[in-house]
Amino acid sequence: MNSLVDPLPGDSPRFSLHDFAPAQESFEDAVVEGLSGPRKSVPARFLYDEAGSRLFDCICELPEYYPTRTELKILTDKADEIGASIGPDIALLEFGAGSSQKARLLLDALERPAAYEPIDVSREHLIRLADEIADAYPGLAVRAICADYTQPLELPDSEPRRRRAGFFPGSTIGNLTSAEARAFLSGWAGQLGRDGLMVVGVALRAPSSIVLPAYDDAQGVTARFTANVLVRANRELGADFDVAAFRHTPTYDETTGRLTIHLTSLKAQTVHLAGRRFDFAEGEQLHVEESNKYAAEDFQALARSAGYVAETVWIDPGELFSVHVLRVA
Ligand code: TRP
Repeated sequence: MNSLVDPLPGDSPRFSLHDFAPAQESFEDAVVEGLSGPRKSVPARFLYDEAGSRLFDCICELPEYYPTRTELKILTDKADEIGASIGPDIALLEFGAGSSQKARLLLDALERPAAYEPIDVSREHLIRLADEIADAYPGLAVRAICADYTQPLELPDSEPRRRRAGFFPGSTIGNLTSAEARAFLSGWAGQLGRDGLMVVGVALRAPSSIVLPAYDDAQGVTARFTANVLVRANRELGADFDVAAFRHTPTYDETTGRLTIHLTSLKAQTVHLAGRRFDFAEGEQLHVEESNKYAAEDFQALARSAGYVAETVWIDPGELFSVHVLRVA
């Protein structure tokens, strides 16, 4: 479904909203399913409720959490080169309604950007971002797409027809398994079409002494962020997780670049939820998130296997983060 609605009833729309009405996944069903298997997990997308989103914003400001500021620095310092590599008259399709700061850096770097098209499941975030960008860039066509970007969808037409560049910042691609990342990239290669581009921010495989503290900060903000999913389950689902008896435990394999975050139960406990019981042994782990780090050449190889030519990559001097421009082959 692709209904076009006026996002500002009674007012002249400054952007168009293309609402695919993504199915609202039930938190309860997802938690029950995640706790039912032999290896318990809770889907990471439920970390980002209102409190979680606020905590995540705090994470991005932490001294230990280098990805956000390193990516911003690359986008700032290399803006001219990145803009030139993408080329003029591009429609910029952003996956996820993130911080408008990154989209602005890229839009400012582009020659005559034609359109900005954020895609997000959260209508609220999407509208806020579309509104901010429409405000800051009068004359830029802003098409907000409310949809799940991991599912195929029919993109709105642009008139005249523009080349599209996908933009996937924040190393969010690292939160997918590499098989999922390849599926994401190859799915969008088809959508973007020949000469379509993909601009992807990817945290680099780096020493453990740098990577681990970014997910285990001294102030405990990240620990509060992951524990928030249990707090949320207690509040919204009437569950009875003993939140204090779970410890935030990130682990990192320096050779593969795989970072995994678990909540470890510090005692044997039984959690009641949706009329069921879930037993945790002492030391049992609840999987929360993956954050894969890639060497630049490994990510380029992945992109090639997904149908792209790896055009250029920019890396900060500390070799912690990369911004890739990929072209659909
Ligand atoms: N995309 C971010 C990353 O992988 C998300 C993130 C940062 C995150 N810190 C986290 C997810 C802690 C879960 C827990 O860097």
